[in-house]
Amino acid sequence: MSFRNYQDKINEGDTVILYISNNLYAIDVQREIKNKKGELVDNVFQSPVGALKVRTLIGVDYGSRVELSKGWGHVLQPTPELWSLTLPHRTQILYTPDISMILLQLDLVPGSVVIEAGTGSGSLTHALIRRVRPHGHVHTFDFHEHRAKLAQEEFEAHGLADFVSAKHRDVLADGFGEELKSKADAVFLDLPSPWIGVPHALAAIKDQGGRFCSFSPCIEQVQRTCLTLEEHGFQEVSTMEVLQTEVKVTKRTIPVRDLSFLKQKSSECPVEEKPNSETSYVVGTWPQSTPGHTGYLTVATLPPVFARNKAKKSKIETSEEISTENGNKGVL
Ligand SMILES: C[S@@+](CC[C@H](N)C(=O)[O-])C[C@H]1O[C@@H](n2cnc3c(N)ncnc32)[C@H](O)[C@@H]1O
Repeated sequence: MSFRNYQDKINEGDTVILYISNNLYAIDVQREIKNKKGELVDNVFQSPVGALKVRTLIGVDYGSRVELSKGWGHVLQPTPELWSLTLPHRTQILYTPDISMILLQLDLVPGSVVIEAGTGSGSLTHALIRRVRPHGHVHTFDFHEHRAKLAQEEFEAHGLADFVSAKHRDVLADGFGEELKSKADAVFLDLPSPWIGVPHALAAIKDQGGRFCSFSPCIEQVQRTCLTLEEHGFQEVSTMEVLQTEVKVTKRTIPVRDLSFLKQKSSECPVEEKPNSETSYVVGTWPQSTPGHTGYLTVATLPPVFARNKAKKSKIETSEEISTENGNKGVL
């Protein structure tokens, strides 16, 4: 339940993040767990710095230092960012650099209704929930039945079930359902063929318009998605890649030329160039390359209904004008 609200102390049933020298581990705070034989035994978490009896966490303040059998760590309250780094992987997942751009590009605010497919491991879903709650809702779909079920169970265990519905559905074959027709402010797709989902996104976005975003690792997927978005009246189509760059701060010693001789007129006295000195500066250095391609984000706007038809009409008129100018009457 620790995902739902900020709290001072750890309660039984919480998920806590144990931070041990730059490593993070998610722990479900349960006094006992079942062993392989199905017997209830004391829940003991094993780490590189020894064992931790999980029941000893109950009542401890979040942020505290806790002792393990051979070392120590700190217990943190989970956030979507920490969860992305510790969650059980059922699929490839999205991480915070892409997620932050997705939230921005989808124009999400508390109260927004957003559709996501596929749910995968629920990494993005946790961030979507935090952004749209308390009055908004995330509708997330996956065509892998077990994954959709596990995701729903996880949202319930995290106390987030009021803000999200995880459903089992092949959204490319069946769309998002009649009940979501013209209901969404935004649609996000992380699927192998997002372009097939574009007509379904068109049907699901509200009459007043909304935003679309898809994540694709390959540029060929992006090309097909962009073309389909334009064919379906989406505007402001653009594709971006989020590359995180670490700027290293180092000390550099560089020669500095003394240019004070330039202040004197050469006619007044002979110019005497002073020798260079060396000065140390603290500088930021950029890496020579930025590896870390995850995927491309393609974003687009669906205008309000009244503007959609106008935009289509003016597009047809423009292509008619061009073909008339070219003497190709009747050819669009
Ligand atoms: C890469 S994962 C999504 C990861 C997710 N964004 C996250 O951050 O955890 C892609 C998911 O899409 C699902 N999927 C693929 N095609 C689908 C379809 N046609 N309808 C619904 N889900 C689909 C897969 O089962 C898989 O779980």
